[in-house]
Amino acid sequence: MAISVVGLSGSLRKGSFNESLLHVAAEVAPDGCKLRVRSIRGIPLYDADLEAAAPPEAVLALQKEIAAADALLLVSPEYNQSIPGVFKNAVDWLSSFPLGGDKIFRDLPVGVIGVSAMWSGTINAQSAWLPVFRGLAMKPYLGDTLYVGGARDKFDTGGTLTDGATRKRLAGWMAGFAGFVAANAKQG
Ligand SMILES: Cc1cc2nc3c(=O)[nH]c(=O)nc-3n(C[C@H](O)[C@H](O)[C@H](O)COP(=O)(O)O)c2cc1C
Repeated sequence: MAISVVGLSGSLRKGSFNESLLHVAAEVAPDGCKLRVRSIRGIPLYDADLEAAAPPEAVLALQKEIAAADALLLVSPEYNQSIPGVFKNAVDWLSSFPLGGDKIFRDLPVGVIGVSAMWSGTINAQSAWLPVFRGLAMKPYLGDTLYVGGARDKFDTGGTLTDGATRKRLAGWMAGFAGFVAANAKQG
């Protein structure tokens, strides 16, 4: 079965470790799994008045992509032991009820991985996403975890992943995630 996954990183930083990990995930995705790297750049702060008057194009375009995909992959940094505000803000916009976002996420398989500068490797942020997935009635992949800590030892100064073991672990994680997506593809 051919699977299409939309992948988002929760960092806007040039040289972001999480953005880099997302691109490597696309490279190591197994045969039959296409990971489309997309961006939350351009999504403004959530504002219900803006939503009613002129929904942002960046939100509508991304919603269309997610609606057409079999799954969503979030590559999440960790800020203050939780989800970075910019990333949660983007998902809040995408899930907007008036824009039909709640229907896009319902029953959609979702995975979350991440990399951080500290040794905890986004374990807290990944746990913090779980109630969000539950609220959106998504299907979280819980079969395996990928926490990448100590980023400065695993990426070069340009943000490129140099650690072969992490690349291998990511390939294994992607294979497991793709299998989960194939088994749980959204109906209709
Ligand atoms: C406001 C702020 C809070 C942070 N809190 C955490 C944290 O709780 N745990 C952690 O592992 N790293 C934390 N970090 C460090 C991030 O892991 C580090 O900045 C990382 O590079 C962010 O991901 P990026 O490279 O994809 O931008 C924090 C960084 C910022 C800016």
